[in-house]
Amino acid sequence: MIQPFQIASGPRVRFGRGEAAFVGEEAGALGMARPMLLTDPGLIAAGVLAPIMEGFQKAGMDFRFFEQAEPNPSDESILRAKEFYETNGCLGMVAVGGGSSIDTAKAMGALLANGGKISDFYGADKVAKRVPAFITVPTTAGTGSELTRASIITDIEWGTKASIHSDALYADLAVVDSSLLATLPRYFAAGALMDALTHAIESIGSKRSTPWTEAMCMQAVALIGRHARRFVDDPANPDSADPLALAAALAGASFTNTGLGIVHGLTHPVYSFFGGHHGTTNGILLASVMRFNLPAMREKYAQMAPHLADPSGKSGPGPGDPGTAEAAIEGVRAIARDIGIPPSLGAIGVKEEYLDRMAADAAKSATVQTNPVHADEADMKAIYTELLE
Ligand SMILES: [Fe+2]
Repeated sequence: MIQPFQIASGPRVRFGRGEAAFVGEEAGALGMARPMLLTDPGLIAAGVLAPIMEGFQKAGMDFRFFEQAEPNPSDESILRAKEFYETNGCLGMVAVGGGSSIDTAKAMGALLANGGKISDFYGADKVAKRVPAFITVPTTAGTGSELTRASIITDIEWGTKASIHSDALYADLAVVDSSLLATLPRYFAAGALMDALTHAIESIGSKRSTPWTEAMCMQAVALIGRHARRFVDDPANPDSADPLALAAALAGASFTNTGLGIVHGLTHPVYSFFGGHHGTTNGILLASVMRFNLPAMREKYAQMAPHLADPSGKSGPGPGDPGTAEAAIEGVRAIARDIGIPPSLGAIGVKEEYLDRMAADAAKSATVQTNPVHADEADMKAIYTELLE
């Protein structure tokens, strides 16, 4: 018998190469008047926004650029974005980028619709009124933020990450166009795809996993396993960029319903103390956390194993190897190595003397509740220590 479950369907999705050209037309259809176009610094210079801007011009839509979205946006940067929105008389939000601009827009939208302080919304289901009309356009294949009900914020006063989870944050529309990934530098392409792979595997392992989300996540794992290596070599190639964009979106739509696991719980303190790229840190941690979770995940990992084999058979388990749980873990390790994820936490600057404080923070993460195996502070420290060198 299948246990009862609920799924939030989230934003309408418009998927495909060239679809970004229709963002302006869609903004008009959603009743946006002078939308605020939030983006990450550098994306305009890289030409990533060109098709979107042309689409706005074609649709005769006025808009205002805000290109100061920060990575892991701070509460202060969100207030600056809100002031920009109000000063410019904007109506509607179009967030183009990775997690930074999309998470900024969600938190800003909560403030615009509800007033109050950002910290009023920390936690689950504390945003009463929906954000203004909202379109998301991802430019990495990773965070899945375009489809999630979450905004992850760096709270300056608390010195840590905080999150807002609410159906009121869902975009009206997510436009997923893999041609926007064409100029992704290898390092970010690799980190982002390890983020998507972590979302898929942690969603399958979540105590709130459902057959619905698991089907999407297994497909995401398969797409990533098959195309990860070629994608980081040539993100402009639609044959690998399309599957990766789809995988990231599927994983995002899933984990926003199920929650994640302790890879994310362990990654956030690394960022708080040492910075670094979210997906890259996930990529360093994922295989070791899978080994920790193995007692509860043997069957699911064995199902994943053929999807995680190296299609060329040159690195790690190949397509002909037995589909064991261990082969899935080795498959993840081989993907991370082959796409250039650093081999250890020490390689991204993590220092041993911080591990106690990081482990204490990780043990307080909400992801402990959904992780398939209970993890306490000592477990968190053991995983950090194993990965230090
Ligand atoms: Fe993530």
